[in-house]
Amino acid sequence: MSILVTGGAGYIGSHTVILLIEAGYDIVIFDNFCNASKEAIKRVEKIVGHKIATFEGDVRNREDLTKVFKSHNIDAVIHFAGLKAVGESVENPLKYYDNNVNGTAVLCEVMAEYGCKSIVFSSSATVYGDPHTTPIVESFPLFATNPYGRTKLFVEEMLRDLYVSDNDWKIVLLRYFNPVGAHDLGIMGEDPNGIPNNLMPFIAQTAVGKRESLSIFGGDYDTPDGTGIRDYIHVMDLADGHVKALEIIKNLSEVMTINLGTGNGYSVLDMVKAFEKASGKKVPYKIVPRRAGDIAKCFADPSYAKEVLGWEAKRSIDEMCQDTWRWQSRNPDGYKNKGK
Ligand SMILES: NC(=O)c1ccc[n+]([C@@H]2O[C@H](COP(=O)([O-])OP(=O)(O)OC[C@H]3O[C@@H](n4cnc5c(N)ncnc54)[C@H](O)[C@@H]3O)[C@@H](O)[C@H]2O)c1
Repeated sequence: MSILVTGGAGYIGSHTVILLIEAGYDIVIFDNFCNASKEAIKRVEKIVGHKIATFEGDVRNREDLTKVFKSHNIDAVIHFAGLKAVGESVENPLKYYDNNVNGTAVLCEVMAEYGCKSIVFSSSATVYGDPHTTPIVESFPLFATNPYGRTKLFVEEMLRDLYVSDNDWKIVLLRYFNPVGAHDLGIMGEDPNGIPNNLMPFIAQTAVGKRESLSIFGGDYDTPDGTGIRDYIHVMDLADGHVKALEIIKNLSEVMTINLGTGNGYSVLDMVKAFEKASGKKVPYKIVPRRAGDIAKCFADPSYAKEVLGWEAKRSIDEMCQDTWRWQSRNPDGYKNKGK
């Protein structure tokens, strides 16, 4: 079975490609490299032991996509390609609507043209906005607090409309909580451009000495230690959720929406402590004012994923930190030293 992985050179995509290949799928990667390095694909190839068909192209570009569908018989698409920086989406919303919403519309049109109607979409826990309670179940009301979140919400709605218009579509919406960690060989991991937006790469870069100290946004939330609580999930567990989604996709008779989280909430200070333990390094930090749009607590009820996919996250917070540290300490400059 051939799977097209859009955004396959990115953080979650590259880790997922490894598990898909190990599960026996033929993989085609499609990426415009706007937030990824070609070196990431070389490292994946090193791990799996062979070359991977790779197309450089943009999901908004019909011709780029047509080249892929003409030359490969694609059975399903895992659609990771998208922009994900919340702050940038506030400053430049049209860039986000164009890339994430329009990009998905063009992709689905080309898929339909070639008779490929199975798609797994990377959605996000951000579609729950500021949830009225935790843990979060899939039926909670949906709301977005920023343009990035709205692009996820709109794409979810667009894909539901697509299914209503044509029941041949097989659609899985995976709502990720907070992906962290890295492949355990230490040669691949998250490599953000510039100042990291997410906590874990910031902690890791601070521990390795690239940043002076970690700024913790808000120490006065209504949580046990005052810092925000999130559901951190190891990227390899998340990747495994995609393999499981592909196993069921052919039999779907409705759009399936699934939380991928661990069900455990950890505070920022919990993460700092766990990282210090895993790395043996001190992570200096300072508490600064809250960041607009951040919420106190967000963690999943992952029981539906267990029920319908037979999936649950297996890796602990210690493994998340150890694997991140292995990657960060061996590759302090990420993929950059190898021809980004
Ligand atoms: N990392 C997270 O915290 C998180 C949480 C929830 C959801 N998601 C979603 O999961 C997906 C993957 O996230 P990630 O963390 O791996 O991000 P990433 O930036 O590492 O990967 C996205 C990839 O898509 C590519 N891309 C972007 N726009 C493209 C376009 N128009 N055409 C072709 N390629 C394009 C980028 O070059 C990159 O390789 C994204 O859709 C993101 O919104 C991520």
